Amino acid sequence: EKGEYKHFMLKEIYEQPKTILDTLRGRLLISDGLICIDGIESNKEIFINAKCITIVACGTSWHSSLIGEYLLEELARIPVKVEYASEFRYRNPIIEEQNIVIVISQSGETADTIAALKLAKKKGAFVFGICNVAGSYIARNVDAGAYTHAGPEIGVASTKSFTSQITVLFLLALKIGKYRSTITNIRYEFLCKELISVPEKMNFTLKIDNNIQKISKLYHHVNNFLYLGRGINFPVSLEGALKLKEISYIHAEGYPAGEMKHGPIALIDENMPVVVIATKKGYYEKIIGNIQEIKARKGKIIAIVNEGDIQASKLADHIIEIPIISEELSPLITIIPLQLLAYQIAYLRGKNVDRPRNLAKSVTVE
Ligand code: F6R
Repeated sequence: EKGEYKHFMLKEIYEQPKTILDTLRGRLLISDGLICIDGIESNKEIFINAKCITIVACGTSWHSSLIGEYLLEELARIPVKVEYASEFRYRNPIIEEQNIVIVISQSGETADTIAALKLAKKKGAFVFGICNVAGSYIARNVDAGAYTHAGPEIGVASTKSFTSQITVLFLLALKIGKYRSTITNIRYEFLCKELISVPEKMNFTLKIDNNIQKISKLYHHVNNFLYLGRGINFPVSLEGALKLKEISYIHAEGYPAGEMKHGPIALIDENMPVVVIATKKGYYEKIIGNIQEIKARKGKIIAIVNEGDIQASKLADHIIEIPIISEELSPLITIIPLQLLAYQIAYLRGKNVDRPRNLAKSVTVE
């Protein structure tokens, strides 16, 4: 039931502080400094000895895979490749001994991801699944896995699944990093504590909805949007753009901010709103440089900044303030204003937010 919310999507956006707790329940025992994930513990040696990990998914799950790449490489120091399931399945991918394939799917029924899973198994890979729907095809057919426990997601545009997938990937990266001694105890403990702070910081971030409604009123008639981010927030810019196109039908592109000058900058004029993730950590100075370049071309800047920010806030046309959190966990917070922005713009355009045209919740055909 939607309860007090106009749409399931809005309800699911607001549910995220709770779903993160559900994802963590029984898995993060902070008092003992322990992360418990059966699927990893019972395959400890496989993860310790992994030479490379390929993550395969579609859509939003592909975006969380890109965040997983950053986390697993940073914390567990295992080389990671991320592939679209629809591409992976029709290539002749190289899977060698000690390669792990991770498949990520909210529904667990996506046709391309299932085909990729079958191919990975045929090639002898150990396959680990991250799914939301219990008992789904993918959940039943992987060698091991971890559920996201985000609860049923009704809105076609994926929101709470995305953040719960990132949470599982973060737990995996920390746990494998600990096994492989690629992260110090101090950093491990610090990141566990930061993880516990996420639901509260998400709640705080959701309060910016009023501000986002105002911004949406100014921009809901435009035809194009650009989203920029760097590092672990580059996939967040892709996800922000995907949410907007799916439900508002506005053309939107996500880009790594550093790539802007290699093409997309040609699009910028006074009619182009640019959403820039400009949080304090993660190449802040570089992002400021990008913002200046947009401003010089009269683009309209909507900047996602940390509380107390000065530099980006001075340059931006609109600022959206969010709490400070470690770089590794920042996508869980930076995505919230982008989900709300997509929702509010689609709502103002009178679109059927929960059932966008041409899309299905689970893509069981090719
Ligand atoms: C985006 C969206 C789709 C799905 C994609 C994969 O909002 O809903 O892009 O993310 O179809 O679906 P799953 O995760 O069920 O495999």
